[in-house]
Amino acid sequence: MTTNNFSPDDADFLRDFRDMSEFGATPNGGVDRQAASEADGQQRRWLTGLLEARGFTVKFDRAGNQWGLYEVVPGAPFVVVGSHMDSQPTAGRYDGAYGVLAAAHAAFRLTESWAGGGRTQAATGGPQFNIAVVNWFNEEGCRFKPSMMGSSVYTGKLGLEAALATTDAAGTSVREALDAIGCRGDYDGPEAAYCAEIHIEQGRSMERDGVTIGLVNSNWAANKYEFVVHGEQAHTGSTVIEDRKDALLGASMMVVAARELADRFPGVLHTSVGQLTVYPNSPVVVPSRVNLLLDLRSADEAVLAAADAALHERISEIERLANVGVERHHSHSWPVTPYQSEGVELAAKAAAELGLSSKQVMTLAGHDSTNMKDIVPTVMLFVPSVDGISHNEHEFTTDADTVAGVAMLTEVLGRLCHGALSVPVVPA
Ligand code: GLV
Ligand code: MN
Ligand code: MN
Repeated sequence: MTTNNFSPDDADFLRDFRDMSEFGATPNGGVDRQAASEADGQQRRWLTGLLEARGFTVKFDRAGNQWGLYEVVPGAPFVVVGSHMDSQPTAGRYDGAYGVLAAAHAAFRLTESWAGGGRTQAATGGPQFNIAVVNWFNEEGCRFKPSMMGSSVYTGKLGLEAALATTDAAGTSVREALDAIGCRGDYDGPEAAYCAEIHIEQGRSMERDGVTIGLVNSNWAANKYEFVVHGEQAHTGSTVIEDRKDALLGASMMVVAARELADRFPGVLHTSVGQLTVYPNSPVVVPSRVNLLLDLRSADEAVLAAADAALHERISEIERLANVGVERHHSHSWPVTPYQSEGVELAAKAAAELGLSSKQVMTLAGHDSTNMKDIVPTVMLFVPSVDGISHNEHEFTTDADTVAGVAMLTEVLGRLCHGALSVPVVPA
């Protein structure tokens, strides 16, 4: 990577991005930084140093969210800006981490301009709100479920105690894991007035349309399930087929059923099984139990409801066909909800004034801002993903697009801090 053709501020951002991507780096150019892992802890300490060096006060809240606070208007609420630095296993460098670093750099540019008496392009006076850069805890939900854990606690959707008591596959709780990396604090988090987040699109639509900035206007709905398929342990050789209660056969039929459902609703329903945990997972043993994580997503809640009902019907058939029992264990869902249109308009104007092409997009993935928009007006921005690749070590966004995103986020954050959305919009 060369930073020669970029402004000094952009070159700084690109250097920090490269340094940041060393935490949990994998040999194929990705990262493995699951929530509250050692790599996550190291990266959080690095972020603390970066923020403190620029005059921010860093605090950890009770749910492990990391806050970089800059108070310029004593006692005023904060514009919360950030994303998450945890990752899936063998993931890309951009998902989440880009948004936290972009938020930090946007905040540095603004606070430095305020300190120097300067203003952002849209400013009509001094800032009215403070800035809180946030690194949300456990957005990915791979080590500890559910996803978007830190922002769910902050927004009151998930109880603190329930979050802290959640265990990973090895039985380690969130509380223990956060304590091990020194990231469980006693702060409650700042009072938010607005929120902004920037993220890679993780899809192809912006690249296809040649657009630099995505203005997220709404999110797809999701239903996530953990099913447990119960069978009976038996010998794979000696047990006659009609006597078998093969939990893995039942689970495999569910994997296929999920895909067949997506094929019945082409383009408007996404389904997947992301994890199978097979017990005892041993040669020569018919499995007695499989835990299976399945999700269904759509922009159309009627499609999601129809698919969900069809899935449950099919599961009853699978129980009969595979001679197994299927238990529904745990679910996490969210509806289709709009981002406040005033925020989308503000961002559209900012993009136009910066000379950046933009279009409205929906987010198919969940984000911490999908939680935040339910409590404060929230602006969600995307930059393009090359070939739409995500949750993959080859995830990539060009340097030109990442720095354009930082410029865009700086402008949006500046406008929010200066009260450009002066009437808070409380969603219905
Ligand atoms: C994010 O957590 C997602 O499931 O999209
Ligand atoms: Mn993400
Ligand atoms: Mn992700």
